[in-house]
Amino acid sequence: MVATRIRLDDLHQSLTDPVLSSMNFLNEIAERYPNAISFAAGRPFSGVHDTEDLHLDLDAYVAYLKDQKSLSNDQVRNTLFQYGPTKGIIQELIARQLATDENVQIDPASVVVTVGCQEAVFLVLRALRATESDILLAVSPTYVGATGAARMLEMPVVPVRSDAKGIDLTDLVHQIRSARSSGLRPRACYVVTDFANPTGASLTAEARVELVEIASREDILIIEDNPYAMFNGSTTRIPSLKSLDTNHRVVQVGSFAKSCFPGARIGYAVADQVVTGADRPGILADELAKLKSMITVNTSPVAQAMVAGHLLRHDCNLAKANQQSKIRYARNLEGLLRGLERRFGTDDTFRGKVTWNSPLGGFFVVVTVPFQVDDHVLEHSAEDHQVLWTPLRHFYDDPSAANQLRLSCSDLTNEEIEMGLDRLAGLVNEQVSRS
Ligand SMILES: Cc1ncc(COP(=O)(O)O)c(C=O)c1O
Repeated sequence: MVATRIRLDDLHQSLTDPVLSSMNFLNEIAERYPNAISFAAGRPFSGVHDTEDLHLDLDAYVAYLKDQKSLSNDQVRNTLFQYGPTKGIIQELIARQLATDENVQIDPASVVVTVGCQEAVFLVLRALRATESDILLAVSPTYVGATGAARMLEMPVVPVRSDAKGIDLTDLVHQIRSARSSGLRPRACYVVTDFANPTGASLTAEARVELVEIASREDILIIEDNPYAMFNGSTTRIPSLKSLDTNHRVVQVGSFAKSCFPGARIGYAVADQVVTGADRPGILADELAKLKSMITVNTSPVAQAMVAGHLLRHDCNLAKANQQSKIRYARNLEGLLRGLERRFGTDDTFRGKVTWNSPLGGFFVVVTVPFQVDDHVLEHSAEDHQVLWTPLRHFYDDPSAANQLRLSCSDLTNEEIEMGLDRLAGLVNEQVSRS
């Protein structure tokens, strides 16, 4: 019997897009070199968790359902074991957490609980890509999860330049208007507000206020994705876009991957925009739920229960619950920046040739080197130097990214950071002397 063959050309065009291969490639290379020190993984440190915590989380949620929601044993059992409402079962607690941590006041009805932030991004883009002319704007470079989702939906992404304020607002307005003059309809601008993935850059307070105003004036939405905001080192938190959003211009896509744990795969969308045109006006969250019902039906109630219990056990105050992690990430970032300075900032061979930015929080630093970095150099780095990082070109098409790499320090110890930087310095030394 001849094995079935399917031509890649006969599958969806996004499957040949490098953006879609990017996450797989990075995961796969990490698996192939398990002993390499990885500055590539943007995952949170899981050493703060104990397996026993899962039981405590579940117990806390069950007690809440019984004691505060007056559910019977049968009702609790059905809540956990059955299919559940498409919008989710923990919106009220998410609303409480957003009020506590972000000063964002929302109606729980505007929340859709999703399978990670990734599903929330997909749902929002699916809803907004109504016609061939609908496009997305995104501060460039952009998180691959957002561009990848857009590719799957055949929704073009127009890059918006970033500057010292985190977003070049003049370019944003220019891109909106020039898209419109070409017959396109810019629907939204995707922004990672604080300590962005991949650059570590944050929007200034002024830029946030202005961005929300521009969105109203130019009649677009903002999709705010802000998973690193609470890891703000010793800086003062700047209000999120959603907290400034008096006009329902901001759709917030949220993740509990960094603030609780990624294993739960729980995220959400806050979509409080009024939708007209049906018999009765509704809100965007309900339209997203219709889409969700055809993708994942509903988010696992068991996973929601874990996150809900975690929220309950910490009074819906994740900033406080993450205090220990926050200190760890800040210490790692400081160690990484100091280590870069020691190796590349004072040495005559590298000074001015190897440069990096200095984010004040989050997981990521971008290093610029005097040679091209691509997947081949990464492969060589893994094989011969036992150190992994992420080529920045995975995050955008800009050729100027060809010599930039992203270092993540969230899941490393200080010793690993030091050893990893020694290995990186070995690679840089070798590449510079070859060029
Ligand atoms: C900007 C950004 N958004 C979303 C996510 C992922 O969210 P989730 O794991 O909830 O899908 C990440 C993870 O790396 C990220 O960097």
